[in-house]
Amino acid sequence: MENAGHEHPVESATEALKHDHRIIEKVLDVLERLIARSGEAPVEIWRKAIDFIRGFADQCHHLKEEKLLFPAVGERGIPLEGGPIGVMLMEHEEGRGYVRAMAAALDLWDQDPDAAKRTLVANARPYLRLLREHIMKEDEILFNMADGVLSGEEQKKLLAEFEEHEAREIGPGVHEKFLQIANELEQYSGR
Ligand SMILES: [Fe+2]
Ligand SMILES: [Fe+2]
Repeated sequence: MENAGHEHPVESATEALKHDHRIIEKVLDVLERLIARSGEAPVEIWRKAIDFIRGFADQCHHLKEEKLLFPAVGERGIPLEGGPIGVMLMEHEEGRGYVRAMAAALDLWDQDPDAAKRTLVANARPYLRLLREHIMKEDEILFNMADGVLSGEEQKKLLAEFEEHEAREIGPGVHEKFLQIANELEQYSGR
């Protein structure tokens, strides 16, 4: 398996997560165009966007935060329950609820496309708002807190653990596959 996706010299865990955020935002922009097209957007684009969100945003990205970054920050005395980390965890869960509902709606598409579209749009809207704000809070508040308490050494160690996590949870090379999907989706103009 080819693994040429390490062109960006990322030095810290928080930097890597911010990099993920930029990729997720591309797909959130696609979701916004899908919502705007509402009933007329093609099912394949919805499906691709939701597959990306499940695989990359949830499995790959949110789990890196939940299983690795947040506990590391917790060890430095920032509480995991309540406070900003507690809010982030709650928002991940809230997001997963919308994603589950969107995935269920896709399964319904062949049977009842109109109902499926309504459910997709009804869940994509709050998801979009939630995730954009969530990303902003992490970029501007939480990751700064993490940078303040984690040493360069610890950041590098986390970064290595991120790679292991990805190889284990989603398989080697899958990160690159998701980058490609995000780029493909970006071409969807909504017209
Ligand atoms: Fe998060
Ligand atoms: Fe995040």
